[in-house]
Amino acid sequence: MNHTNDTLSAYWMPFTPNRDFKANPRMIESADGLYYKTTDGREVFDGSSGLWCCALGHNHPKVVEAIREQAGRLDYVSPFQFGHPAAFELANMLADDMPEDLDHVFFTNSGSESVDTALKIATAYHRLRGEGTRTRFIGRVNGYHGVGFGGISVGGMVNNRKFFGSLLTGVDHMPFPYDSETMAFSRGEPERRDDYAEALEQIIALHDSSTIAAVIVEPVFGSAGVYVPPKGYLKRLREITEKHGILLIFDEVITAFGRLGYATAAERFGVTPDIITTAKAINSGTVPMGAVAVRKGIYDTFMDQTESGIELFHGYTYSAHPLAVAAAIAVQKIYKDEGIYENVQEVEGYFEDMAHGLGEEEVITDVRNIGLMCGLTFAQKDGVPMSRSGAIFQRAYENGLKIRVTADNVAIAPPLTVTKSDIDKIGDLMRQTIRDVG
Ligand SMILES: Cc1ncc(COP(=O)(O)O)c(C=O)c1O
Repeated sequence: MNHTNDTLSAYWMPFTPNRDFKANPRMIESADGLYYKTTDGREVFDGSSGLWCCALGHNHPKVVEAIREQAGRLDYVSPFQFGHPAAFELANMLADDMPEDLDHVFFTNSGSESVDTALKIATAYHRLRGEGTRTRFIGRVNGYHGVGFGGISVGGMVNNRKFFGSLLTGVDHMPFPYDSETMAFSRGEPERRDDYAEALEQIIALHDSSTIAAVIVEPVFGSAGVYVPPKGYLKRLREITEKHGILLIFDEVITAFGRLGYATAAERFGVTPDIITTAKAINSGTVPMGAVAVRKGIYDTFMDQTESGIELFHGYTYSAHPLAVAAAIAVQKIYKDEGIYENVQEVEGYFEDMAHGLGEEEVITDVRNIGLMCGLTFAQKDGVPMSRSGAIFQRAYENGLKIRVTADNVAIAPPLTVTKSDIDKIGDLMRQTIRDVG
């Protein structure tokens, strides 16, 4: 190895401008509760729940203890052909929280794996039912579904796709259901705009429904910068997909487990998809884990329509990893015992007022919110993309607040345990930051 004296060069960081970071690193040493501590001893409020995942904040003693205890008892067992009781316990807990008959749970290690798992289940399901022509997927412009080849193919974020050659064929995208002229500064769901969901009918007509396996959407766009669907939109997608025998997948990697004050966005919006993908808050981001919940009819098709032996040729070495499962059981119990979803419902209005209060600053051109997530759009400086939002992100960190930035949007999504005074603190730090950056 060619050793340089640059101790930062070996680590190729994900989704990070490596050269900029290594010139001016943001290094975190520890975390507790709602705060990170930097290597130079500063406290930084975690205004993004890590990466939308640390729903309980950091180092919840019961979660730490559950992981510690599990590591000493059973560190690993193959999930192929073997089980451990806690994995079944967790699957039951999650199935109980899923809407209607989404009663069966497949474990993964990340959101990306959950998405690719869901896409594979969807095509295999149709094939088992004798509808093997259904292979196409429909995603959306600006959708984010992780970084697997399936996920970037159905995803609609240009930079995540354009460098990577030929993606999955047979994928189409619905339009981005947002119009700044009529929707900017909406509180919660924007007013109805039926044309966005009706665009799905046009895409189906173009390809013929017999070729389409599934439609995949984030119920609320997260990574694009928190875009909430217009009223009635998700319900209409459900009606159209059902009419055409197409599976509807809700990618709830961000929204599942409390972000919107309910176990799922499906529950909050009263719309039941066929498959729900999850990860992140499943165990508050403590050990890598994801899960895919499917309707009974899908699971039963695999059990009934396959020859004896393995029904689904798919899985991961670390599916239902004992440490991830132990953490998830502890976290899911805390969600119930400590009334975490109820807290989100209680403080949501206060959070919304804080976000829209910031919207009074001249440099903010839009504010969007639902549950404990909000997106702020910043006017560019001299027409340069990210010029202001990037400066806000950096300055917020220096001022003691960690937020997310994508393009000209900043997202704030604090741990679900926040109180009104924590929300005041976020508002104060953001206002100070906006004024500092100008
Ligand atoms: C909706 C959605 N799907 C999938 C993913 C990918 O998850 P992961 O980074 O765990 O692979 C994300 C990550 O932010 C996401 O927001």
